[in-house]
Amino acid sequence: MSGKKEFHIIGAGVAGLGIGWRLAQRGHRVTVFDKGEAGKGASWAAAGMLASILESEPGEESLLPFLLEAQNLWPDFVKEISDFTGLDIGYRQTGTIFAACERDDAGILRQRYDFLQKNGVTLEWLERETVRAREPFLSPRVYSALYSPGDHQVDNRALTLALHAACLASGVTIRSHAPVSEIMSEGGHVAALRCMGDMIPAQNVVLCAGAWSAEIRGAPEVNSGNLPPVYPLKGQMLALQMDPKHPILTHVLWTPRVYLVPRKDGRLVIGATMEDRGFESLQRAGSVLHLLRETFEVLPGMEELPLAESWTGLRPSSRDDAPILGPTGIKGLSIATGQHRHGILMTPLIAGLMADYLITGKLGASARPYTLARFG
Ligand code: GLY
Repeated sequence: MSGKKEFHIIGAGVAGLGIGWRLAQRGHRVTVFDKGEAGKGASWAAAGMLASILESEPGEESLLPFLLEAQNLWPDFVKEISDFTGLDIGYRQTGTIFAACERDDAGILRQRYDFLQKNGVTLEWLERETVRAREPFLSPRVYSALYSPGDHQVDNRALTLALHAACLASGVTIRSHAPVSEIMSEGGHVAALRCMGDMIPAQNVVLCAGAWSAEIRGAPEVNSGNLPPVYPLKGQMLALQMDPKHPILTHVLWTPRVYLVPRKDGRLVIGATMEDRGFESLQRAGSVLHLLRETFEVLPGMEELPLAESWTGLRPSSRDDAPILGPTGIKGLSIATGQHRHGILMTPLIAGLMADYLITGKLGASARPYTLARFG
């Protein structure tokens, strides 16, 4: 295959699989390694919110255009991957409600509204009657809300399975339970990967190992500290099961303390804590209590619903909560990690930007503020 390269991707989450698929579509040979079951890490644990607008907070204004760019890619991306794989990835365009139930909440809503308006995004204010007309099962304590018509959801697990299928159908090799323990370089150029005692020659490597990206020996360094500057930010999650014919919630719903994501099949995903506990995956009673209590506050009918599942995930957060994309100080070694709370939302954008960069050597303008070099 003339002009075609061989790529080795470390990490089979939505970033690694998305990049792998895009590279394979353009005729390149790709192998994706995962230390566990492909797609069953942070991508599986997520909630699948595509909330570029409501999930942006004061202080994150510089990231907002990147998030909005990612959001805009979703309709075409959903069509492309669904047509290609024949799989439904649970994209629901209901918009998102951010509800106020406590006295202090009104101030938080006002702050979010003002912040977004200053950055060119206008949300709708809903008074109590309008919120309850849209979501009749909300607590009477909800006295006002913001409505973001552009924030939606995708079923992140269905997305991960679809990306896996798309990769396989495009010729990508996916190796589950194949931990890469070391990235080896020679003369400043990546040369090989060590995986379970094997040394695999590798000239073009992409590090997409999420929160574990700094744990691999030989991972690229910047000037100070443990590197790359990415760490795990634990999230506790729950799912309840609603009757899909009579759901008690249809929009994605936020309060300042919890979010609820109703799937098409009646599953109600509830999240998520933000806990700085290293690589701990333990489910702690206090975290579960917090999610249940806050859900009850806003949606009291939840107490009759069966508990379907509880789990934790580890978000890959960087030192400035923005992604880390593109080149590293080691030639042939690129990186895509640090998605923080937005890994699912960023999937199509990161896949496209990284594949273009890997093929052409040019990093797209929207990714340029997010290289590893900014930490140096
Ligand atoms: N994007 C939701 C979360 O990180 O919990």
